[in-house]
Amino acid sequence: MCGIIGIIGERSAAPLLVEGLKRLEYRGYDSAGVATLVDGQINRRRAEGKIVNLQAVMEKSPLSGKIGIGHTRWATHGLPTEMNAHPHATKRVALVHNGIIENFQSLRNTLKGQGRVFESETDTEAVAHLVTSFLEEGMTAEEAVAKTLPQLEGAFALVMIFSGDEDLMIGARRGSPLAIGYGNGEMYFGSDALALAPLTQQICYLEEGDWAVVSLKGARIFSDANEPVERKNVETALSGALIGKGNYRHFMLKEIHEQPAVIGDTLHAVLNPATRKISMPPMSCDLASIPRITISACGTAYYAGLVAKYWFEKYARIPVEIDVASEFRYREAPLPDGGLSLFVSQSGETMDTLAALRYCKRAGQHIMSVVNVPESSIARESDTVLPTFAGPEIGVASTKAFTTQLTVLACIVLEAARVRGALDARQVSHLANALAEVPGRLAEVLNNLSEYERIAHILVDARDVLYLGRGTAYPIALEGALKLKEISYIHAEGYAAGEMKHGPIALIDENVPVICIAPGNDPLFDKTMGNVQEVIARGGIVIFLSDKEGVAKMESQAKPKACLVLPEVDPFVAPILYAIPVQLLAYYTAVLKGTDVDQPRNLAKSVTVE
Ligand code: AGP
Repeated sequence: MCGIIGIIGERSAAPLLVEGLKRLEYRGYDSAGVATLVDGQINRRRAEGKIVNLQAVMEKSPLSGKIGIGHTRWATHGLPTEMNAHPHATKRVALVHNGIIENFQSLRNTLKGQGRVFESETDTEAVAHLVTSFLEEGMTAEEAVAKTLPQLEGAFALVMIFSGDEDLMIGARRGSPLAIGYGNGEMYFGSDALALAPLTQQICYLEEGDWAVVSLKGARIFSDANEPVERKNVETALSGALIGKGNYRHFMLKEIHEQPAVIGDTLHAVLNPATRKISMPPMSCDLASIPRITISACGTAYYAGLVAKYWFEKYARIPVEIDVASEFRYREAPLPDGGLSLFVSQSGETMDTLAALRYCKRAGQHIMSVVNVPESSIARESDTVLPTFAGPEIGVASTKAFTTQLTVLACIVLEAARVRGALDARQVSHLANALAEVPGRLAEVLNNLSEYERIAHILVDARDVLYLGRGTAYPIALEGALKLKEISYIHAEGYAAGEMKHGPIALIDENVPVICIAPGNDPLFDKTMGNVQEVIARGGIVIFLSDKEGVAKMESQAKPKACLVLPEVDPFVAPILYAIPVQLLAYYTAVLKGTDVDQPRNLAKSVTVE
């Protein structure tokens, strides 16, 4: 997703802007640019591709100026070219934008009719011309922006600077996050706290519809009704240090290896390591009496929610409905009075998930969210927030966020099972112990990676790969397929193992690797083993993920192409453990493919557009 940064200060803005953009690289982008005021005039430098290309342009043609804006673009309208890169500008205003201006075409037509000349294919440029048209009518910058915003439809975070005014930035937020940063003799805008972390920890998040006038004297914030409003400042915990890869080749590999630690950190927030008792933070709803849970999320976070569905229904006996947020938000699902709506999101800014949350809020549901960014929009709009402590996840492909989401969800399930009497104290304690053991079991898996690198050679040239699982191994099959798709670009599908015979089995031949996830002590193991034998009988290449007992059973019946033996764990926590091997298989396959593992093509870390 696009990244935004704006600076007014005493220092040269350009190097600070580029530094801020580098911290936003993890969001995914395809071009970048900056604009500053030099002797009051707008100057821009933009480049296609990575930020290093922008730095090369700026080395050749440096930018001075103490006020400026910067942007990393994830293309929505118009190819990822220099011409379409932000900032977009007229002689009077330069601006950067995250989101989609849905009525941009009609705006463009009207403005072209007034003789305005457009240089790009973007929706964003229409806003620059619209603001300029009001400035040319004699309005002040504030008046021009106040007049422009109501004419825009869609989602945006916008930041603007104006020729002739070295001490003015105006930013606006509708649907895409935007924060104000308070520095020491400097002021900032940023699309998230991470971008501003090297500059300040004093942040003020704009709310939906807010817009703000920022100068070295501070910030004046207005609502979408142009009423002055106060928004509280928060101190972020994000360190200013640029997050590095350490000794790892990629952020993704580093973050895979961080999982034992961050799952431990996440557990310690809710599970007493000594007594193994769960103590959840205060909740807005009574888990003992909610009639149903509705879960909604996107991508990997959705798969975490899908595992939680199995858990809530099996252990807490609570009916659960789940849907991907992009579908849920539009199907007008009837919701029970007093129901709990649960949202899972790493970034806390995913537009589809936020919109689904708002639908449920309007329906009077209790809103609970599991997020990795406590200051995010989803967190701020929830009644109860349960944080994961994964730390900033830089790799676009989610790994440690997923397993910490599962960890938090498992704790909520046990708490619900306890208060509803669905499990007695002994049973809860047994499962809490299994949870507490997870970091150690993960570490065992991460200590022996050679087999994963070897198996990656089986996958790297495949055109299609299938992942199979039953029960809570089914969402892990879906997640494994997503991981492989998104970082190696190999087509992969996750399937409920029992579904194979209803069609997908036609795909099976010696060219299609089939990754089967089947913990040996899972009640459904024998059923899955039967499906595996169906695949092997048709010449399929089976890669079998199980524990020692499961592999022995499997090999007594038929010979998979390869087996990965994992530590034996309670079936309750198996989905957390088995997430690791599917992450590793995807990672090593992508490395062999030579793709951009941390920033795969076309992907964004946080999708803040529909
Ligand atoms: C995960 O590997 C993907 N990058 C993507 O599916 C992601 O999980 C999804 O976009 C949801 O993001 P969120 O958790 O920040 O809401």
